[in-house]
Amino acid sequence: MVAVAIDGPAGAGKSTIARTAAAELGFIYIDTGALYRTIGLSCINKGIDCSDTEKVIPVLSQIKIDLKFIDGEQRMFLDDEDVSGLIRTEEVSMSASKVSAIPEVRAYLLELQRGFAKTNNVIMDGRDIGTVVLPGADVKIFLTASSESRAMRRFLQLKEKGIDGDYDSILQDIIKRDHNDMTRETAPLKAADDAVTIDTTELDLLQSIESVISVIKERLK
Ligand code: DC
Repeated sequence: MVAVAIDGPAGAGKSTIARTAAAELGFIYIDTGALYRTIGLSCINKGIDCSDTEKVIPVLSQIKIDLKFIDGEQRMFLDDEDVSGLIRTEEVSMSASKVSAIPEVRAYLLELQRGFAKTNNVIMDGRDIGTVVLPGADVKIFLTASSESRAMRRFLQLKEKGIDGDYDSILQDIIKRDHNDMTRETAPLKAADDAVTIDTTELDLLQSIESVISVIKERLK
């Protein structure tokens, strides 16, 4: 099996780029952030503070999380309910970042993630795929961009959906989430030693996709 790990901070375009690259290569694309988001959502639904480790840990044995592929698209299920849309709010983003700092949460999701790579050719995106989940991945890419350009992309995405976001608060959220993700003790966001870093600050989406696909093809030769 072939595994491609794409890690990087929030808003660097990982999911769009990884999805497109997977379609081109005929690989399965797995968005691991969706798993953390689903746990974040379950805590919100239960009225639990996502930073409260003592309260979050018992939730893990009370919920059922499934990742399914429907028409080739990843869908997330929480207790048999399709929550793929519900996990995309800013509130859930921040909750996911908080629960992801809890080692028990990361351990809970580890084997699930590795299981997919055992039986499929995968492109997996996240924060710790190249460092922890699939340290033996055939290709590792660290995708990054300045926080300002990531915030601007998010702002424009929302605008396209008819949502009036506030650029400054989006930027502050991104900075806060980067800080959480990079400074946590367990599996912090960082490039694996053998990862190729691609900075998309000056690239548009098409150029970013081309650059990722060319690195993958070069490495898989
Ligand atoms: O990729 P995303 O924005 O959907 O991820 C949501 C949060 O989940 C992110 O802030 C950090 C966490 N995460 C993680 O810790 N490890 C991963 N492999 C993927 C996501």
